[in-house]
Amino acid sequence: MSIRLESVRVRLGDTDVLNDVSLAFDARTVAVIGENGSGKSTFARLIGGLVARTSGELRVLGLDPRSQAAELRRRVALVFSNPDAQIVMPTVAEDVAFSLRADRLAPAECEERVSAALARFGLHALRERASHELSGGQKQLLALCGAFVRRPDLVIADEPTAYLDARNARVVADHLFRRTDHRLVLVTHDLALARRCDAAVLFVDGRAAAVGAPDAIIAQYDQTLRC
Ligand SMILES: Nc1ncnc2c1ncn2[C@@H]1O[C@H](COP(=O)(O)OP(=O)(O)OP(=O)(O)O)[C@@H](O)[C@H]1O
Ligand SMILES: [Mg+2]
Repeated sequence: MSIRLESVRVRLGDTDVLNDVSLAFDARTVAVIGENGSGKSTFARLIGGLVARTSGELRVLGLDPRSQAAELRRRVALVFSNPDAQIVMPTVAEDVAFSLRADRLAPAECEERVSAALARFGLHALRERASHELSGGQKQLLALCGAFVRRPDLVIADEPTAYLDARNARVVADHLFRRTDHRLVLVTHDLALARRCDAAVLFVDGRAAAVGAPDAIIAQYDQTLRC
């Protein structure tokens, strides 16, 4: 199983934000859906190693985020709605190269990887541009480029298309769903996007209320929205 949780609880402040979550999935692409405040982002941060569990058992790619945090960081990439939080270097090419710093590659290999990634994300012509001058959509492509240049085994994306226009949302989604080796956990309110996943999980009040085929889980979510 690529992601497995057993009775996981996450307490933040005086609230159990995630409560008794037990899940196991091995699907390559998993959608995480649910109402505002249901715990989706906390779940994404938990499996990405950014939030610690209070109790329970958790394995991501077979790793314990608590005791194998460095290995998890190496194999997992996170993408969020707001690319400004993820872009750190002054120019586009430098920012992508920064993602590879932990790999300690020879300069030529680093440059090769960066150039290939920039080309793949349609950013080649912008490589010397100041990162902060990019449009929102271009910044999100840069954030994605920085995530994928590391060749992660798992990409965790929390509403990656939230601020994008329809065209850029499609471009970003197509990169996320492109058939490569990576697995994808996609938190989204875009149910059409959720339908493209192999499996879905519905969060309700900090609990994983249902897991299964996206069509069935989305239908169940629709029912709760009508109440
Ligand atoms: N650091 C924190 N301290 C206390 N409560 C928190 C903290 N982070 C999140 N919460 C609470 O946990 C609940 C779930 O938040 P979370 O961000 O995981 O929801 P979400 O499903 O991603 O919502 P949205 O769809 O609005 O992004 C919310 O009620 C939120 O107020
Ligand atoms: Mg959220």
